[in-house]
Amino acid sequence: MSFEFITVHTEADKVGVITLNRPKQLNALNADLMVELGQALKAFDANEAIGCMIITGSEKAFAAGADIGAMATYSFADVYKNDYITRDWETIRSIRKPVIAAVSGFALGGGCELAMMCDFIIAADNAKFGQPEIKLGVIPGAGGTQRLPRAVGKSKAMDLTLTGRMMDATEAERAGLVSRIVPLDKLMEETLGAALMICGYSQIATMAAKESVNRAFEGTLADGVMFERRLFHALFATTDQKEGMDAFVNKRPAAFTNQ
Ligand code: CAA
Repeated sequence: MSFEFITVHTEADKVGVITLNRPKQLNALNADLMVELGQALKAFDANEAIGCMIITGSEKAFAAGADIGAMATYSFADVYKNDYITRDWETIRSIRKPVIAAVSGFALGGGCELAMMCDFIIAADNAKFGQPEIKLGVIPGAGGTQRLPRAVGKSKAMDLTLTGRMMDATEAERAGLVSRIVPLDKLMEETLGAALMICGYSQIATMAAKESVNRAFEGTLADGVMFERRLFHALFATTDQKEGMDAFVNKRPAAFTNQ
C-alpha cells in the first residue's frame, strides 16, 4: 500500500507506526489523509503479527486540526450529504487492537480529537492541546465536545472549548488527558517501549481490555461492570489465560500464542 499523506512502517515486526505527513500544513487533516489513515489502521488491525499501533506526527505538530482551507467553502448541503467527519474520520473507532497517540507540538481541533480517539496519549514536553474551533465560528466536530469533558471534566473542557486557548503538556497531564509526558527526543522510544510491552501480552486479553475500558464511556456503571465480568469470564476459555497463570505460578516468563 502506498500513501501520499501518511508514512507507515513497522517496528520489531510487531508495532504498526503511522506518521501523519503534511508537514507544511502542520498535518492539517483533509479527507484524503483520513481515508489513508483508516486504510493503514485497518491493515495493521488485520495483520496477526501486529499487536499495537502508534499514530504520530512531526516535532512541530501532531495535527493542527481539520484542513481549514478545504473546509472554508463547504455548505451545509456538502457536509450533510457527504457525512463529513463521520464517513472518513471514524474508522479508528472500529480498530480493535490498542492504538497509542504519540503527540509532539500542536494537537488542535481535529488533531486533539484524533488523539482522543486513540486509546491513550503519550505527550512530548512541547505538546499543546486545544479545541480552537470557536475562533472559526464553529464548534469541535470530531467528538471534542464529548471526549474532552470525559477526559478533563466539564469546567476545563468548557474553558478550552469556549475560549479556544491551548493547554501545555503539564496542564494536560494534570487534567488527565495524557497518560505521561516524556522529553521530546524520547517520545518515540518511550511510546515504542509501551507498545512493545502491550505486544508482549495476549492479543486476546489486550483487545478485551480495550473493549472493556471503552465501555466505561458508553453506558451505566452497572452495565459496564457486567460487560467487563463477562469478558473476564470468557478469557478463562483461552490458552493464553492458562499460560499466563501457569507461568506466574511456576515463576517463568509467559509465552503467549494469542489463542
Ligand atoms: N488547516 C489548514 N492549514 C493549516 C492549519 C489547518 N488547521 N493549521 C495550520 N495550517 C497551515 C497554515 O495555513 C500555514 O500554511 P502557509 O505556510 O501556507 O501559510 C502552515 O500550516 C503553518 O502554520 P502557521 O504559519 O499558522 O504556523 P504558526 O506556528 O504561526 O501557528 C498554529 C501554528 C497556532 C497551529 C496555527 O497554524 C493555527 O492556529 N492553526 C489552526 C488551528 C485550528 O484552528 N484548528 C482547528 C481546525 S477546525 C477543526 O479541526 C474542526 C473539527 O473539529 C474537525
